[in-house]
Amino acid sequence: MTGISDSFLRPINYLRVSVTDRCNLRCVYCMPEEGVPWMARSNILTYEELSSIIRASVELGISKIRITGGEPLVRTGIADFIKMIDQIPGVEEIAMTTNGILLSRYAADIKKAGLRRVNVSMDTLKPEKFKKICRGVDSGGDIARVIEGIQAAREAGLNPVKINMVVMAGINDDEILDFASKTLDEEWHVRFIELMPFTGHDGSTPTGLTTRELKQRIDPLGHMVPFKHQWGNGPAKYYKLPGARGTIGFISALSEHFCFNCNRIRLTADGKLRPCLMSENMIDLREPLRGGMAAEQLKELIQKAVSAKPKGHLLGEGHKPNDRPFCQVGG
Ligand code: 5AD
Ligand code: SF4
Repeated sequence: MTGISDSFLRPINYLRVSVTDRCNLRCVYCMPEEGVPWMARSNILTYEELSSIIRASVELGISKIRITGGEPLVRTGIADFIKMIDQIPGVEEIAMTTNGILLSRYAADIKKAGLRRVNVSMDTLKPEKFKKICRGVDSGGDIARVIEGIQAAREAGLNPVKINMVVMAGINDDEILDFASKTLDEEWHVRFIELMPFTGHDGSTPTGLTTRELKQRIDPLGHMVPFKHQWGNGPAKYYKLPGARGTIGFISALSEHFCFNCNRIRLTADGKLRPCLMSENMIDLREPLRGGMAAEQLKELIQKAVSAKPKGHLLGEGHKPNDRPFCQVGG
């Protein structure tokens, strides 16, 4: 199998696939309370269409797939889709990022279908605050369901389960130590994420904390040492507190950007390949695919998207992606 590299010689082996823009939560940093107009169903790729794109990408050298949303577990038939991807030769790992609300219901099925592991977004350990941050909507915003989901994922063997916490000043930064402490006695893998500016949330966008500030806040728990792992070469940098069972990761998209190491492209639910999360540039695959494009030409388009990957994002220079909200890109 051949590998693909972009024009800056970064090897690209990782494809994030958003299967829906719909979500059963409305996190404050992601969507306005009233939601965003959902994509028309006819514009969303069928599982067969997604699979054709994944197959072509894998033939080019992609080997890791992450399923995202919106919330991927709200799309019906997701376990069957995972099974479809798992049967594509060359797919080495399938993972998922979920908000956990429906995880206890699906953990065993998705594991059986071939999913290797999950990342669960959880920004607070407090039930009332959870409702405020995620604004319940149709799911009721019950944190107990997320906790049950995490438990179910572990029991199903979707390990390591990583917990993503987006840290926001004045909202959940009082819980940094609580999350970090969770890694001491239990095998929690917590990742603190710097808030990224994204379109789609309301005017009162919260402020994030930098990794440096986060590390200072965690310091009273002891000196963290870098932790080597085999969890792929994603953007998080991992550490361990002395004697800890779990790990602490930092995703510092703004303060210590990792673009030079970027290994990924994104496929949106409506069939656009997005070379960079932070750039509006996208290449449409849906219309060519629906027009009957042959696999070889599809591969050429994917190659074109990979070549169009910019060197890095321009958030530091004040540019933020303004075309679509986070849930329509897939994180
Ligand atoms: N900044 C940082 N992280 C975000 N996420 C969603 N929106 C943002 C944002 N604006 C997180 C979610 C999830 C992951 C896919 O991205 O919490 O863990
Ligand atoms: Fe849903 Fe994730 Fe956006 Fe929260 S961050 S509203 S869980 S898509």
